[in-house]
Amino acid sequence: MEGIVINIRFNNIIITGASNGLGNALAKRYADSGVHLGLIGRHQDRLNQTAKYCRDKGAIVESVSMDIRDRENLIDWILRFDSNFPVDLIIANAGVMYSSVPGHPTEQKIIIDETFDVNFNSVINTVNPMLERMQKRKHGSAVIISSLSAYHGIPTFPAYSASKVAIKAYYEAIRGIYARDNVNITIVCPSYVNTDMTKTLNINKFMLTSIDKAVDKIITGIEKRKPLISFPWFHTLGISLLRLIPDRIADRILLMVLGK
Ligand SMILES: NC(=O)c1ccc[n+]([C@@H]2O[C@H](COP(=O)([O-])OP(=O)(O)OC[C@H]3O[C@@H](n4cnc5c(N)ncnc54)[C@H](OP(=O)(O)O)[C@@H]3O)[C@@H](O)[C@H]2O)c1
Repeated sequence: MEGIVINIRFNNIIITGASNGLGNALAKRYADSGVHLGLIGRHQDRLNQTAKYCRDKGAIVESVSMDIRDRENLIDWILRFDSNFPVDLIIANAGVMYSSVPGHPTEQKIIIDETFDVNFNSVINTVNPMLERMQKRKHGSAVIISSLSAYHGIPTFPAYSASKVAIKAYYEAIRGIYARDNVNITIVCPSYVNTDMTKTLNINKFMLTSIDKAVDKIITGIEKRKPLISFPWFHTLGISLLRLIPDRIADRILLMVLGK
């Protein structure tokens, strides 16, 4: 896993969704001699592979296969890890995305519920117990992986967009309060990244950011304690411009861009 040089060393790090995609890549990048990594995912084999790679790099790894919707277990595990190794970086990365067909936007209730349970409720259950402790220690960073779809809902994944709007708004709302106690909150809004999540979407490869590039952006943003990281810049500009034109035209442009 090559990438930019890591300048700021975090000693005790928790990452959710470390069994695949961005979470897996972030764990591998942050793995270093003596670093304590707490890795959470569902898929045991893939999580074991991530853990092994990180241990081979010298990290001390505790991993757990868990559905993060299990609130009690999740909070227990995180607080226990933190009691042993006071966490200085937590990355709430785990997420799910189900796409739907525009014109048939009524997603099944079960999908909407799961999307909000994982992408909103479970992120809050991951991050908030740590924020309290970081605030007392007056030290720490929390990273929330939202999405560029938080800037404007995307017709092919409405529930996902809504969950990412919600989580972005929530941490924007409380970010300033924690900053007063030297606790940094960074919200990450990527466009399409080349992971399993985007495999079924048939996205033109020119629209995709590589995992390595995405991880570089995230690590740089964390080190600069940026409140918000969005990439790539041209997608950020495009989706931000949608907000400046009449909504009806923006809706048509979005469907056109998606080829719908
Ligand atoms: N890829 C993109 O284009 C893109 C763009 C914007 C934002 N994001 C966000 O980036 C984050 C990472 O996505 P990715 O692209 O790396 O997707 P991915 O390859 O599908 O990985 C998702 C990770 O989340 C874990 N996860 C999902 N539901 C979980 C649950 N209930 N309990 C525990 N772990 C769970 C998965 O675990 P298992 O595999 O073990 O089930 C996996 O490790 C997500 O929040 C996603 O919304 C992705």
